[in-house]
Amino acid sequence: MSLNSSSGIISFKDKIIIITGGASGIGKHLAQKFAKCGARVVIADLSLEKASSVAKPLNGVGFLCDVTKEEQIQNLIRNVKKIFGTVDIFVSNAGICLGEGAHSASASNEIWNSSWEVNVMAHVYAARATLPEMIKNQRGQFVQIISAAALLSQIGDAAYSATKHAAMGFAESLAITHKSDGIDVSVLCPQYVATNMLGYEEDRGDPRTEIMSAAQLAEIAVPEIQKKKFLILPHPEVRQFMNFKNKSYDKWIYEMHKLRARVLKKSGTLDIKTLHKFV
Ligand SMILES: NC(=O)c1ccc[n+]([C@@H]2O[C@H](COP(=O)([O-])OP(=O)(O)OC[C@H]3O[C@@H](n4cnc5c(N)ncnc54)[C@H](O)[C@@H]3O)[C@@H](O)[C@H]2O)c1
Repeated sequence: MSLNSSSGIISFKDKIIIITGGASGIGKHLAQKFAKCGARVVIADLSLEKASSVAKPLNGVGFLCDVTKEEQIQNLIRNVKKIFGTVDIFVSNAGICLGEGAHSASASNEIWNSSWEVNVMAHVYAARATLPEMIKNQRGQFVQIISAAALLSQIGDAAYSATKHAAMGFAESLAITHKSDGIDVSVLCPQYVATNMLGYEEDRGDPRTEIMSAAQLAEIAVPEIQKKKFLILPHPEVRQFMNFKNKSYDKWIYEMHKLRARVLKKSGTLDIKTLHKFV
């Protein structure tokens, strides 16, 4: 990839970037920012109509792709190569957060399995389908949209926390193993962002709660991705919390336990769509 000598960051001009779950929220805004930087974007999502409606104004292409189906990811990549010749960057953004009931193991096996499929295995399938050519070409980049829940924990959602931790483990392995193949990995670990996942209307933040909008997130994250930074923390307080956790794991668990009780008392529910307003 070419370096922009004046700023020292990677140029995205004419780079082919696939974004899964790009039909809404964080993925959509990342795609818009990538396109502004000159990239050709490919939006892959569960609805072809929605994917295409995001891709079209960006001069990109929309694809129907359920990321839990390995053959659909392989097919996506085959088609993108047919159209554009290559895949420069694969952004694994599609993710789900389904919540839990009375206790940490109360979510159904169906919820655990689908969280595992979307939040983890989809990243593995994407890497399996793109790595051989990236290794051959000695270049490429993976961008994994994970979560601060991978470094800390999501109160009220054990399946989300556990699968995001697993996604981080896979991203670390990718980065460690393939650095010498010229392949870079970036992980984006935001805290709360105002998207459908948290019950916000598309494209709108909520000034009353000061939750970061997906557009703001993309403005912060894309330059960091261009610098090929591994850990990208759009909310600076996450680093502070990580430092506290690293310093004293036991104390961190105790403080998180107290925070959970406080938040639950105020919000009256563990549903992430309400609970995040009280954290
Ligand atoms: N919103 C937040 O507060 C927040 C915080 C940290 C991390 N994240 C992560 O960011 C990513 C994007 O989340 P968002 O907030 O934009 O959510 P969102 O619900 O607005 O968008 C998710 C997109 O993924 C797509 N998707 C879901 N399952 C899919 C599948 N099987 N195949 C293909 N596409 C699928 C959906 O159709 C949707 O377009 C997720 O991985 C999420 O865990 C979100």
